[in-house]
Amino acid sequence: MLKNIFLPVFIVLLFHSCQAQFNVQVPLDYCAVQAKKTLKVIPATAVNIPRSIDQGKTEWHFVGYGDWCSGFWPGTLWYLYESTGDTTFKTAADRFTRELRPLSVQKAVDHDLGFQVFSSFGKGYRLTGNPDYKKVILAAADTLATLFNPKVGTILSWPRSVPHMDWPQHNTIIDNMINLELLFWAARNGGRKALYDMAVSHARVTMKNHFRPDFRAYHAVVYDKDTGKKIKGLTHQGYADDSMWARGQAWAIYGYTMCYRESRDPAFLDFAEKVTDVYLKDLPADRIPYWDFNDPDIPNAPRDASAAAVVASGLLELSAFLKDPAKAALYRKEAEEMLRSLSSATYQSREKNSAFLLHSTGNHPAGSEIDASIIYADYYYAEALLRLKELQQKNK
Ligand code: GLY
Repeated sequence: MLKNIFLPVFIVLLFHSCQAQFNVQVPLDYCAVQAKKTLKVIPATAVNIPRSIDQGKTEWHFVGYGDWCSGFWPGTLWYLYESTGDTTFKTAADRFTRELRPLSVQKAVDHDLGFQVFSSFGKGYRLTGNPDYKKVILAAADTLATLFNPKVGTILSWPRSVPHMDWPQHNTIIDNMINLELLFWAARNGGRKALYDMAVSHARVTMKNHFRPDFRAYHAVVYDKDTGKKIKGLTHQGYADDSMWARGQAWAIYGYTMCYRESRDPAFLDFAEKVTDVYLKDLPADRIPYWDFNDPDIPNAPRDASAAAVVASGLLELSAFLKDPAKAALYRKEAEEMLRSLSSATYQSREKNSAFLLHSTGNHPAGSEIDASIIYADYYYAEALLRLKELQQKNK
């Protein structure tokens, strides 16, 4: 019996001891150098937030505060301030964070407020305690809550018509899981208790309706807005309605881990493991997924480094919650392997452009940002490196 418990742990520990410790400061310092290059090319216009660099190019596409990706650049700068203590990053992070302030005083146009406001003001508030940031976060949470439909029990992700998609009813996309963190945080920091209840409801209803029996996520689910009945699961950014879109599964892994952290509901922890295991089992050897696990062009299909960065960050948190030491060690090892791959010459941009990473895929069906550098890959890469650094410092 004892042998059964300790053998897997022993094997994982042996594997760890055979590998040199991953010196996480090296990629973090690399990120700081790259971000300083980007700071030098920020245009003097309102559309000045770096979003992506096309494959083989060096120039950023910039967006304004309303873009769903607007929070990732300020969030990345906050992470770099945290990792280096360099006030150049703090000043820049504050500047780009404040650009997003209008989001807190206008009507919700979609669910992305969490991505936008929590990645920027949320990260800034954690490091500075600035009360102005807190006001924006609380206001944005109330705005996001206006999209909650109590008949369905989830947030309406896209309250508008979506090109090429016929969704007259209530739609919820798996990405929406990440935006729940804004509601959880607000409820804990002076906001209404109802915000917590909405976040938990969204996570539970999504758990019930958004997954195939093998725990692979649909990208989107359409509900009857009046009865709450599920109409169908489908895709917008994946290969097919029933395929596993890599970043969608990544949002599920990260999202249910975060929901467990915020609620301590063991059902979310159990579910985070299930959605993780189906993702890990079909990864390529370098642990960076193809953009969709079911693209028939594999192994010639593009990768998605952004999904790998999201999963690495989520797994580092998830591994620390698990009671089973063998499973925890396995997830930690997987996350480290993902970060080692992302930190290699294959995936880092280095001299090719001033982003941190290459080889992310944004919206393949739309032909947009394929095999590109994308700002959310950089953001979650920096976050994962910082999480690993903290775990290493605690000697875990
Ligand atoms: N939230 C949109 C995406 O993951 O591409």
